[in-house]
Amino acid sequence: MKKILFVVGSLREGSFDQQFAQNAEKALEGKAEVSYLDWSQVPVFSQDLEANTPAAVQAARDAVLAADAIWFFSPVYNFAIPGSVKNLLDWLSRALDLSDPTGPSALNEKVTTVSILANGGHEPVADAYRALFPFIRTQFVDEITTTQVNDSAWVDGKFVATDDVLANLDKQAQALLAAID
Ligand SMILES: Cc1cc2nc3c(=O)[nH]c(=O)nc-3n(C[C@H](O)[C@H](O)[C@H](O)COP(=O)(O)O)c2cc1C
Repeated sequence: MKKILFVVGSLREGSFDQQFAQNAEKALEGKAEVSYLDWSQVPVFSQDLEANTPAAVQAARDAVLAADAIWFFSPVYNFAIPGSVKNLLDWLSRALDLSDPTGPSALNEKVTTVSILANGGHEPVADAYRALFPFIRTQFVDEITTTQVNDSAWVDGKFVATDDVLANLDKQAQALLAAID
């Protein structure tokens, strides 16, 4: 079975993006093996850290290399990609062999897609990912599912996807599977 790595772009306990990802996991049930990347210990990027790859970065690279595709679930921070997610992508975009800076990264030619959860700013962030993923040499599957946060989630902490959102996740899952078939 194909392996799909999920990257939840929020480290918050009870994250709505985490719950959004669980909906997508259901769309892949029986069709792919899903695992979640633990990127909580990835440090703020500095070129000074690169010579001695931090363990958390190495683990993230290994997980990416082992996956057939990567599905990101992203919040919107100030109408932009959250800095923490961009930091992770900056690390992953770097060449594996430091003596060849333009050489392949762990992400090289990897199939990627993203879903976006927010109350405002979906479009600029979708466009930012549409520009970024091909730039870092991934094969981007542009079937972005976007969702609002349901009002009650702010009270009880439970994200509830609408039927339309579930249908979009299904469509996105099919497109992702087709890209790695
Ligand atoms: C620094 C920061 C900036 C935010 N900016 C936006 C924004 O531009 N648009 C929006 O809809 N929500 C914004 N939010 C609210 C987040 O969408 C909300 O916290 C959401 O729950 C984050 O996803 P999570 O539950 O997976 O952590 C922002 C939150 C933070 C912490």
